[in-house]
Amino acid sequence: MTAKTIIRFENITKRFGKVIAVDDVSLSINEGEFFALLGPSGCGKTTLLRMLAGFETPTEGRILIDGQDISRIPPNKRPVNMVFQSYAVFPHMSVADNVGYGLLVDGVARPERDRRVEEALALVKLDGYGARKPDQLSGGQRQRVALARALVKRPRVLLLDEPLSALDAKLREAMRSELAQLQDKVGITFIIVTHDQDEALAMASRCAVMNRGLLQQVATPSDLYEFPNSRFVADFIGQVNMFEGRLAVDEPDRAVVQTTELPAPVYLDHGVSGARDATVWVALRPEKIELHKRGEGRAPPTMDDAPADHNVVPGMIKHLTYLGSESVYDVEIAGGRMVRALRTNLTRWDQEDFTWDEPVWLSWHACSPAVLLS
Ligand SMILES: Nc1ncnc2c1ncn2[C@@H]1O[C@H](COP(=O)(O)OP(=O)(O)OP(=O)(O)O)[C@@H](O)[C@H]1O
Ligand SMILES: [Mg+2]
Repeated sequence: MTAKTIIRFENITKRFGKVIAVDDVSLSINEGEFFALLGPSGCGKTTLLRMLAGFETPTEGRILIDGQDISRIPPNKRPVNMVFQSYAVFPHMSVADNVGYGLLVDGVARPERDRRVEEALALVKLDGYGARKPDQLSGGQRQRVALARALVKRPRVLLLDEPLSALDAKLREAMRSELAQLQDKVGITFIIVTHDQDEALAMASRCAVMNRGLLQQVATPSDLYEFPNSRFVADFIGQVNMFEGRLAVDEPDRAVVQTTELPAPVYLDHGVSGARDATVWVALRPEKIELHKRGEGRAPPTMDDAPADHNVVPGMIKHLTYLGSESVYDVEIAGGRMVRALRTNLTRWDQEDFTWDEPVWLSWHACSPAVLLS
């Protein structure tokens, strides 16, 4: 089944005076998708959503819904509903009145309104809370009232701007899976804005990463993480060790990068399609680096998919952070460069093998690093 495009941004630019908030963005979003917009503060996420919802007008470009240019359609007539960054609920109104407010404004008659309010409250698991006032609810429940208020209008597309930002960590995580389940159930296209990358990776079917108004990459969560297209994306999504180098060999099934920061070249089991001798960056995720004991005549580890001397680097653990389920090891290598490795704590902490000032070998597979051209 091929996905059907529901929304298309075509060369959208938005300027506020001299500020270019959104810079020539072209992007298609499919029907039923859970799409996340990610990026640092001020990169243009909210502005992009506001243009889709009709609260801002693009300076250049067009936005299409179902192939129709929506520039002349006023916000309340668009098949889109937005849950705002600061989710305001009316404090003096009951939960049910808050949720039904939009229907009231649209002139939906009482019995129908009541029925749909009840349905929407059930969807967000707030059945029975209709008579309460917002100040009698927890933060997470208030958040769900705001959601129900948007869902009750049965939009084809729901825009969520940082919907979980006001919640504490535990609640955020619970709401993440609730949102994903809800989206599954109602089948509405969700576009969520967040600057929390974990949230985006956990919930979205596809993500767009923005930087300074520009679209940097659009991909599935795993492709964004494993195959970032630039230093910016590699660094923004998750943790990364980055080494600048020169592309010494680039063949279809193998490449070699010479770096000044690592004592040995980086060997890859895939080509890079870069220019020979070009400056490149090797991006290596901490969890892809293994630690091995070194010293007292121990030989370096051998690896099954690369010659023994490949991608094995000696170092010394200089810093260690225990995080419960895993530990972070900051390892100093020749030249003083620090390399970060992440390791699951397979046994209880007092049984763990590696400690401060311990000589180690770092190793990684030839398939693990991403080589970035920009
Ligand atoms: N009404 C406005 N007038 C002038 N500049 C604006 C206006 N709205 C947004 N901007 C600017 O446009 C840029 C993008 O803002 P936007 O609110 O879209 O960022 P964002 O990605 O949503 O950031 P955050 O994560 O902080 O919410 C910023 O530089 C912002 O200052
Ligand atoms: Mg914003």
